[in-house]
Amino acid sequence: SWTPEQVIDETVERIRKQVGQERVLCALSGGVDSAVAALLVHRAIGDQLTCMFVDTGCMRAGEGEQVVETFRNHLHIPLVAINASERFLGKLAGVVDPERKRKIIGEEFIRVFEEEAAKLSVEQGQISFLAQGTLYPDVIESTSHDTASTATRIKTHHNVGGLPEEMTFQLVEPLRMLFKDEVREIGLELGLPEEWVWRHPFPGPGLAIRVIGEVTEEKLNILRRADTIVIEEIRRAGVYRELGQAFAVLTPIQSVGVMGDGRTYANLVAVRAVTTGDFMTADWARLSPELLGRISHRLVNEVQEINRVVYDITSKPPATIEWE
Ligand code: XMP
Repeated sequence: SWTPEQVIDETVERIRKQVGQERVLCALSGGVDSAVAALLVHRAIGDQLTCMFVDTGCMRAGEGEQVVETFRNHLHIPLVAINASERFLGKLAGVVDPERKRKIIGEEFIRVFEEEAAKLSVEQGQISFLAQGTLYPDVIESTSHDTASTATRIKTHHNVGGLPEEMTFQLVEPLRMLFKDEVREIGLELGLPEEWVWRHPFPGPGLAIRVIGEVTEEKLNILRRADTIVIEEIRRAGVYRELGQAFAVLTPIQSVGVMGDGRTYANLVAVRAVTTGDFMTADWARLSPELLGRISHRLVNEVQEINRVVYDITSKPPATIEWE
């Protein structure tokens, strides 16, 4: 029989043994795994832990603010927030191919992370460990496309403040023995807000792979507003937790519409919602026509740049969950 308290106690003990007096850095993604990993490490070693949140410019509306608010003000865990939007968007300019977008964001993330880690080492003393939210299923079948699983050896391309050319970290992986549902229970026990604990997974490249084609700040802003509406209505209908993921996709298709006395020529947005066990296969969610109607109505009325909404009724396979 398994209790969250027991797992927390054992894990905390293990972390203390592993880390000793050394300093630990943990990159928060906004998701549940990295947050629970950070909470466990903080419970074990307190302010020897520093968390880092890198805003790639491709996050959802309010996400960065929420990470800062929850960690700094609610959980009282030291957090460095880096706004690297301009860097990421600069690198993404003109890029259309989905795999190139992923690669660019993954590489830039590591670059930003290592630069900031180097600065922190200078300011606060050397950092020896990286904490990561690797789960038991990740251990068994290590998935390739997760930007958060940075390599243990981080090369510093930019030599900040005369640091050694290469920093090496050891890994702390407090969730290695746990499944997702166990991580959620532990998160609740450690005071992570319920909304965060039940949040749908969000891909590392973020909204960049939900803006079809070239990513621009303007398109990201349109998509952020659309995404907020989709999630608000799904929550309001009480079906958020039944879904594996739900989101809006901004397509480059423009279509003709009519608004008042005028003709419009604006963007097509697709709404995607799926039910799934393991994200390897998924079915399109049978959202009620009323809910779909409310989402569509709000999208075209509240976001001027959108004049047509379609609902994705493809399962995985053959389609993937994301559009890119
Ligand atoms: P697909 O679209 O392949 O997605 O059916 C399966 C799950 O993986 C997420 N996903 C990603 N996660 N980096 C990530 O960290 C990525 O590049 C990436 N691509 C897809 C997707 O959101 C879904 O949960």
